[in-house]
Amino acid sequence: MAAMGLSPRRLSSLTGGSLSSLQGVLGSLVLCVLVGGQPDNSSTPSFPDANTISFGAEHSCALEHATGAVRCWGSGDQGQLGDGRSTTSLVPVRVENLKVAVAVSAGGLHSCAVEASGVVKCWGRGEDGQLGHGGRSQRSEARPVPYLGLAANVSAGGSHTCVLERSGSVKCFGWGEFGQLGDGKTLDSLYPVPILGLGEVVSLCTGGLHSCVANRLGEVKCWGWGDLGQLGSNNGTEMSSPMPMPVDGIEGAVSVACGYQHTCALIRNETSLEANCFGRALDNQLQRHDEVWEKSVRRVMRLDEVLAWSAPMPTSPMRSVW
Ligand SMILES: *[C@@H]1O[C@H](CO)[C@@H](O)[C@H](O)[C@H]1NC(C)=O
Ligand SMILES: *[C@@H]1O[C@H](CO)[C@@H](O)[C@H](O)[C@H]1NC(C)=O
Ligand SMILES: *[C@@H]1O[C@H](CO)[C@@H](O)[C@H](O)[C@H]1NC(C)=O
Ligand SMILES: *[C@@H]1O[C@H](CO)[C@@H](O)[C@H](O)[C@H]1NC(C)=O
Repeated sequence: MAAMGLSPRRLSSLTGGSLSSLQGVLGSLVLCVLVGGQPDNSSTPSFPDANTISFGAEHSCALEHATGAVRCWGSGDQGQLGDGRSTTSLVPVRVENLKVAVAVSAGGLHSCAVEASGVVKCWGRGEDGQLGHGGRSQRSEARPVPYLGLAANVSAGGSHTCVLERSGSVKCFGWGEFGQLGDGKTLDSLYPVPILGLGEVVSLCTGGLHSCVANRLGEVKCWGWGDLGQLGSNNGTEMSSPMPMPVDGIEGAVSVACGYQHTCALIRNETSLEANCFGRALDNQLQRHDEVWEKSVRRVMRLDEVLAWSAPMPTSPMRSVW
């Protein structure tokens, strides 16, 4: 949300999150919700119509819907700004080799976008295979990901990436050690692999070491590292899973947002709109998380109208941290 101040008109959506940019402003809020209502022309700052900003760990990217241009700013040492260089920039720089984009996602140290044609391109750190180009090399400009159907959306996680195809199916690639790819294995994949058992997916998110989807039936399914309850286990046995696991007790989900170690599902029915969040509580975000990973925390928040929302992606997800 801090990034909203960068731009003087109306913002339409937020994805990902960044502790450095979000926490300073929002303190302990777990998710960043832009709440709608009647516009107050006099006092509310306004944001560009139909723009999307995605917060990565140390960088952010913005999509200008009118032109399809993507610009990134922040840490650039891994090429994650996509401007052909590997340097940090305090001002937005244009991503190279990217045609008109319809979606963008900033992850740990990489970024991805979907072009209007349905092609997915990624750039930045590649060491874990998170660029999906078949190798582990870094790229400082947008590079197409092969072996995908036409894409609807993309989510760049800590060191992995998942793509939502227009058909509603999902493919993931990158770091898989904690099962975060969802293909039943705990291995990296340098190319996209299909994730089975999800139903027709409508919303997709990737966190530090986990991934979640909401499907057409309003179910939420998650996979990856779950020891902090970020996969939504609700019975005291937090666990990781290399396969998608249904999140019990959630119905009517329309969207999911993943933070670094937590997840929020947006639940809508005729009478109510709620965020149902689970996983690690950082700084009282969900609830104080003390040393032991003793139990998952669930919190349900009632919301007014939501125009955009996201969950923070706080720390560097590089392997060396783990
Ligand atoms: C804000 O602008 C809209 C559209 O121009 C107008 O209908 C509305 O009355 C304005 N509201 C205020 C509080 O001025
Ligand atoms: C892609 O997903 C993000 C995060 O859920 C969402 O804000 C955005 O609207 C989606 N874009 C498209 C084109 O569906
Ligand atoms: C908790 O839920 C998980 C996933 O549904 C299941 O595998 C596990 O057996 C459950 N544990 C208990 C104690 O019910
Ligand atoms: C809508 O959701 C609220 C909150 O979970 C619940 O109390 C209510 O019964 C639901 N209404 C319908 C019609 O499902």
